[in-house]
Amino acid sequence: MENLPRHVAIIMDGNGRWAKKRGLIRSMGHDNGAKVVSTITTECSNLGIEQLTLYAFSTENWKRPKAEVAFLMKLLKNFVKNETPNMMQNNIIFRPIGRLYEFPQGVQDTLNETVEMTKNNTGTTLSLALNYSGRSEITDTFKKLAYQVSNGQLSPEAIDEDLINNNLFTAGMPELDLMIRTAGELRLSNYLLWQVSYAELWVTDVLWPDFTVDIFYKALEAYSKRERRFGGLV
Ligand code: FPP
Repeated sequence: MENLPRHVAIIMDGNGRWAKKRGLIRSMGHDNGAKVVSTITTECSNLGIEQLTLYAFSTENWKRPKAEVAFLMKLLKNFVKNETPNMMQNNIIFRPIGRLYEFPQGVQDTLNETVEMTKNNTGTTLSLALNYSGRSEITDTFKKLAYQVSNGQLSPEAIDEDLINNNLFTAGMPELDLMIRTAGELRLSNYLLWQVSYAELWVTDVLWPDFTVDIFYKALEAYSKRERRFGGLV
């Protein structure tokens, strides 16, 4: 495949609707959604895509019913644990992003263990955005830089786009090329707001648990045909 994106982000929406359509509880949608995460991660690794960043839990998701949040925490822990051998086999680096310190300690421990185990791999980086939102990320970056200015470590004049990039949760990642959203909604839902600047957007009505490698290929094919001008003329 020609002209592959280096960095793909996905808003994995529609788990609840998928479950409802089948008369199942919402958690079953998340459970099936987690299986698709594994499939698409492996495919990115096969294709040699450098960076996959998945919206797995937003700062707003804490507002969901207690039982659903508890299920998502358990699912996350089990997913990361069970997926670690697959990550090792596929040379995947695991790099969660977000305000991770607000998760229960058990979840943080599991995340850290897999980060540690996969840190010397050299293939695709899988980032799960967890307790993440674009605005919270930008807020934390402002705060960090403001402290450096107030300590005299940083001159306001030195603040440029590179410095901001290097202080976001996504520091060091390639530019976001392609943003995919499932389940049809035409919004960004507070995801990667800084990074999305010149990304190509691709939306499908397919619900996340029904997302397949073939549909992923459709998104990659559409991306490969887009003409990217980055504000200039071609
Ligand atoms: C949106 O579905 C999805 C989420 C709230 C989180 C995404 C979670 C997963 C894909 C499963 C877990 C993933 C990992 C990595 C363990 P929704 O519930 O908002 O769907 P709806 O809009 O149809 O209600």
